[in-house]
Amino acid sequence: MKALIADPCGGYTQLRADAPVHRVVGPDGLPVWLVTRYPDVRQALADPRLALDKAHAAPGNYRGFALPPALDANLLNMDPPDHTRIRRLVVQAFTPRRISALRGPIERVAEQLLDTVAPLGRADLLAAYAAPLPITVICDLLGVPEDDRHDFRAWTDTLITPDPSRPEQARAAVKAMLGFFTGLIDRKRTEPGDDLLSDLIAVRDEQDRLSEDELTSLAFLILFAGYENTVHLIANAVLALLTHPEQLAALRDEPELIAGAVEEFARFDGPAPLAIRRFPREDVTIGDVTVPAGETVLLALASANWDPEQFTDPDRLDLRRRESGHLALGHGIHYCLGAPLARMETAVALTVLLRRFPDLALDVPAEQLRHRPTLRARGLLELPVRY
Ligand code: HEM
Repeated sequence: MKALIADPCGGYTQLRADAPVHRVVGPDGLPVWLVTRYPDVRQALADPRLALDKAHAAPGNYRGFALPPALDANLLNMDPPDHTRIRRLVVQAFTPRRISALRGPIERVAEQLLDTVAPLGRADLLAAYAAPLPITVICDLLGVPEDDRHDFRAWTDTLITPDPSRPEQARAAVKAMLGFFTGLIDRKRTEPGDDLLSDLIAVRDEQDRLSEDELTSLAFLILFAGYENTVHLIANAVLALLTHPEQLAALRDEPELIAGAVEEFARFDGPAPLAIRRFPREDVTIGDVTVPAGETVLLALASANWDPEQFTDPDRLDLRRRESGHLALGHGIHYCLGAPLARMETAVALTVLLRRFPDLALDVPAEQLRHRPTLRARGLLELPVRY
């Protein structure tokens, strides 16, 4: 487990070669099937026999963190037809116009954040830039008022890496989040704005196509998914650049490489190494192995993205790489809903950063950087830089 946290991509090399569909016992003592080869992972992501609804877990086989129904009724716990109905509603509200309208504000926030730290000459780029930028963007998108944003980071951090010895902390964070969303929805009902949440409330109230639990759960999922992963895609990308000077130089010389570069950063060191757990509705054969119905399947996106059968020299960061098809944003019906936003935000964050700080460098040896102690999310605890 430690080896996989330290090196989530390279750490899978042996499994891919020797046991590409492998039953392991997780930290909670329950068995999971880890799938590590690119073709198996891609196929399984789109396999309708692999359900996300926990009702398909065999009794006693799964012990996930229990969320209240008003946060749990979200797309990542759902299968068709509920998933299809709700995803269609969000896609309607998540218009390309709404996403592209965010570009200018994202650039402005990025500039402002760097204005604040520029005179200091050094900063923790994670706390000062990679984290506040996405939270501002996602809160603008949903319509979360400025005054309500400060607690949010603490709650998500608690939920992403819960301290097993202090379960009351996670329970308190869940309670606080739920109270926050319920209050926000109440306020938007009386005072709608030009934001995604107001649009979703209208869908719920006028057309009755979304239950109240589904509405709160959707707001929760969008805020949670839209925030955390983007922070770490940006920070992991900065680290990748600072440890690959020739790639950094290429991007500085040719800023138009940025779109392809963002794809390569996602492939090389994406923030979501594992897909959401899935449960076979029936016995399902993946590769040469039959996984019994009701057991837990983990699809290792990071491993698939480093499969040498799919990507030439996968451990090489190559911003000009032409091979496409990485799975860092998923695949199939649960493919990341926020992908266009995540791509744009990361591209803007990196472009502004490199323009403002031409001599950006790590402020500690790369070996001293620490990652968060979890297999579920790949991200740094801090990213000290100087400029
Ligand atoms: C770099 C950033 C991001 C990464 C790496 C990422 C990754 C992913 C992945 C891997 C999935 C599929 C999970 C699975 O099938 O098991 C997913 C789904 C999803 N993502 Fe993202 N995401 C990112 C940013 C965002 C943003 C910015 C938003 C919203 C604004 C968002 C909203 C969602 C939602 C709602 C789903 C569920 C879709 C469904 O079930 O139909 N994500 N994301």
